[in-house]
Amino acid sequence: TIILGIEGTAWNLSAAIVNEEDVIVDVTHTYKPAAGGIHPREAAQHHAAHVGEVIDELFRLFEEKGYSKSDIDAVAFSKGPGLGPCLRIVGTAARMVSLMLEKPLVGVNHCVAHIEVGLWKTEATDPITLYVSGANSQVLAYEESESGTDFGKGAYRVFGETLDIGLGNSLDKFARSAGLPHPGGPLVEKYAKEATEYIDLPYTVKGMDFFFSGLSTAATRYLKENTNSDGNIDETVLANACYAYQETAFAMAVEVTERALAHTGKNEVLLAGGVGANSRIREMLEKMCADRGAKFFVPEKKFMGDNGAMIAYTGLLMFKAGDTLTVEESFVDAGFRPDEVSVTWKPPKNT
Ligand code: ATP
Ligand code: FE2
Repeated sequence: TIILGIEGTAWNLSAAIVNEEDVIVDVTHTYKPAAGGIHPREAAQHHAAHVGEVIDELFRLFEEKGYSKSDIDAVAFSKGPGLGPCLRIVGTAARMVSLMLEKPLVGVNHCVAHIEVGLWKTEATDPITLYVSGANSQVLAYEESESGTDFGKGAYRVFGETLDIGLGNSLDKFARSAGLPHPGGPLVEKYAKEATEYIDLPYTVKGMDFFFSGLSTAATRYLKENTNSDGNIDETVLANACYAYQETAFAMAVEVTERALAHTGKNEVLLAGGVGANSRIREMLEKMCADRGAKFFVPEKKFMGDNGAMIAYTGLLMFKAGDTLTVEESFVDAGFRPDEVSVTWKPPKNT
């Protein structure tokens, strides 16, 4: 089975063609905001301007490898969640490719795709997934359906999630307030290494959910209060804020992940999403897993941030389960939750 997938929920426009074994070809064109954070309309304009050339290049590379377009069985696209204007561009492009190839569409949930690509590209089998990206922060795990409805299939249940903004976006917002360019996450990681002391920042976990907005505000306030009279921020002040930010935010994420492990009795943890590139969050999860005797899995970096391969691969699983859409059914959904998806492609355990 060969599936073409297109991702473009936010900043990264990325398309790939995969089969069961691996990525055959992939092409990415990334939107980089001129200043500030991601502007939804600008990102959509970027995707609209480049999606044609991305698909052309993808086909060119595919044919260069000896395949023909008619080898493609279906066209998968990220149906949501994401920025509405971006989703609509990607949805339109997918419909056009589907009509051109005369092959069905598969509408993929972006969060589920982050998990499935992790299962594909690591040895994890039934993990608790910590999915931390720009817009999303969730702790999820597969749960079989108890009622036996929905063909006996289960769903990825959300055990905990952010109730305000995503961990990545909160890092980006804080970094912007320090005058750092977008995306701020990697720079915060870099500066944190130079810290000299720990400062107290608000740690907010309520039940199984977390909040990152207050943390970002408090860290920003700390910078303001410690800005020099000439308007500059000392390197050490910035480093200490970055360090405390990471320690606090990641400890919140790890706490909820650990409690989901304890609650479900599962013994694997999978890290997903762009923030997963951070070596400190990996270290903290690794330690928590070692303490509990759980296994910790991290896919290669190119499969952690948004990528077309994760959409194509999840599309492949869904296509094989008969989970396809007609053009009329192929609307996008900016608020599409992973737990709304009936996981048609996993056989129930006791069969
Ligand atoms: P989603 O649509 O799933 O929310 P996204 O569009 O935000 O995803 P991702 O690639 O999953 O895209 O994640 C991007 C985020 O990851 C940004 O907020 C960025 O700052 C953050 N990030 C990237 N590298 C690091 C790092 N080393 N440390 C911390 N955060 C990082
Ligand atoms: Fe993502």
